[in-house]
Amino acid sequence: MQKVGVIPGDGIGPEVIREARKVLGVACERKGIDIDFEEFPLGAAHHLRTGEVLSDETLSRLGEKDAILLGAMGDPRVKPGVLEKGVLLRLRFHFDQYVNLRPVQLFDGVPCPLAGGNRKVDMFFVRENTEDFYVGLGGRVGKGRSRTELELVRRAYEAKFDVGIDLRDEDELAYQIGVVTKGGADRVIDFAFQLAKEKGLDLVTSVDKANVLTEVYGLWREAVERASKRYGIAKEFLYVDAVALHMVRNPERFKVLVTPNLFGDILTDLGAALQGGLGFAPSGNINPKGISMFEPVHGSAPDIAGKGLANPIGAILSSALMLQTLGHRESAEEIERAVRDVLAGGKHMTADIGGRTSTSAVGDAVAARLKAL
Ligand code: NAI
Ligand code: MG
Repeated sequence: MQKVGVIPGDGIGPEVIREARKVLGVACERKGIDIDFEEFPLGAAHHLRTGEVLSDETLSRLGEKDAILLGAMGDPRVKPGVLEKGVLLRLRFHFDQYVNLRPVQLFDGVPCPLAGGNRKVDMFFVRENTEDFYVGLGGRVGKGRSRTELELVRRAYEAKFDVGIDLRDEDELAYQIGVVTKGGADRVIDFAFQLAKEKGLDLVTSVDKANVLTEVYGLWREAVERASKRYGIAKEFLYVDAVALHMVRNPERFKVLVTPNLFGDILTDLGAALQGGLGFAPSGNINPKGISMFEPVHGSAPDIAGKGLANPIGAILSSALMLQTLGHRESAEEIERAVRDVLAGGKHMTADIGGRTSTSAVGDAVAARLKAL
């Protein structure tokens, strides 16, 4: 038996997770897969009632699971960041989920925002999830504070470059440092090549800005070179700005993209737009040797919560990603097929793509299609 911790969370989180559970139930029954689901009531309601965000006890109970399925965090009654950072980010770091996997796939029947009608959009983003400019290294030097720090920054700067800003004339500045480690780059890039190999894809695109941020992304590129040789799979290096252009002009050229944290954060939202909107985008925060967490990319959408308007496809596809990671590849593919068939049928559309079908009716349609496969 495998064990999954479920955190429905806030807003539309519980609504979309209910549909994902519905579909998972059918998928598991079809193949005799034995998964024990335990719900954890984390989120705004729990926080407002108990003052607690995520206790050490809950964290250790989640540590006994094989995977976590999460809806969304965030509520207008709670200060922004408290739940998002306190639960989501804490879980990602605690379980060292260093891969953020985001399949970007546009299904037939879903309108594409690109001019010229529906295009082939089918790529995997493998985003580094722990390093880069998100390590929290930085500071501010300003009025009324010691000039020593400013002086240190100035000296470090001048030691490296002949020209530059004259920091002595500045009375306030902020700086933020990106960090890429060899181990950190190797492990996520390895995951990307492994994914390409498993999916039979013959190209990995590395996204960076190595022409300007030469240190961090120079090291990143070396890791890509190594992995490409090791796997015998071709690689290409593209600058992040060029990737943005190509995603709109010719998205069909991409297969697997591996990106540092910041660029991946930005480009995957563009990806979500290409696949029909946030409601369709699944994701996994993955530690291949540990506990991974699967969640739709969207947030708690308080503007539509409780109205049965939420699109559950992102959550359903996230649960398929979870099954895949837990070793149930066939079931994951069956869920994807059911989703594909339902969307292609064009009858079950939620309001975000101009339809009138409710959240639960879309879940019912996918579950019924899955039963009939
Ligand atoms: P959001 O993703 O919740 O909503 C953005 C827009 O997309 C809204 O208009 C919403 O109605 C729509 N939308 C989102 N998911 C949808 C779905 N499944 N079906 C149909 N429409 C959908 O982002 P927003 O409004 O910026 O944030 C709301 C709250 O969620 C905040 O507290 C934020 O911090 C949190 N958040 C949490 C995330 C997570 O749990 N991973 C990710 C992003 C935001
Ligand atoms: Mg984002």
